[in-house]
Amino acid sequence: MRHDCAYRSRLFGSVHPAHTVTILPTMRQNFLRKREDFNMATVGFQANIKPFFTPCYRSHMLAVSGLDLWDAGQVKDNWDDINSEVASGSMPKPGCPEGVWDKTTQALFLLEFLAWKNGGFQP
Ligand code: HEM
Repeated sequence: MRHDCAYRSRLFGSVHPAHTVTILPTMRQNFLRKREDFNMATVGFQANIKPFFTPCYRSHMLAVSGLDLWDAGQVKDNWDDINSEVASGSMPKPGCPEGVWDKTTQALFLLEFLAWKNGGFQP
């Protein structure tokens, strides 16, 4: 099947599909949970936040700034900065094979990240 990048970019936005990650099945499941099940207190770092931070993202951020994205305490302490870097589309930067986040993944991260904070930063 022919892949028409111009057509695909109209469908999926301006980022080339080869440089976007598709949303992981577990994240999609979380996203599709029934509204009444979406209790903020159920959003935990290990189950909901850490899966967004791939080993490559983690090692890049450790290398460039010493920020350990797998350390819930550090992520909590840098919540505002991480939130605005992701919200502005600045992070994650290209540099890992999994690429940058598409709009759906970005929006889902921001939703879960806010729920994690509002739920009291559950482990
Ligand atoms: C406090 C929030 C963050 C800050 C201040 C920050 C800052 C930086 C800086 C200064 C760089 C160096 C390269 C550049 O600016 O061009 C960088 C690179 C990068 N960051 Fe972040 N970052 C943050 C959060 C994140 C998050 C949440 C992710 C992943 C989900 C991420 C993934 C990456 C990647 C993949 C690179 C590319 C590194 C490379 O090419 O070597 N960052 N970041």
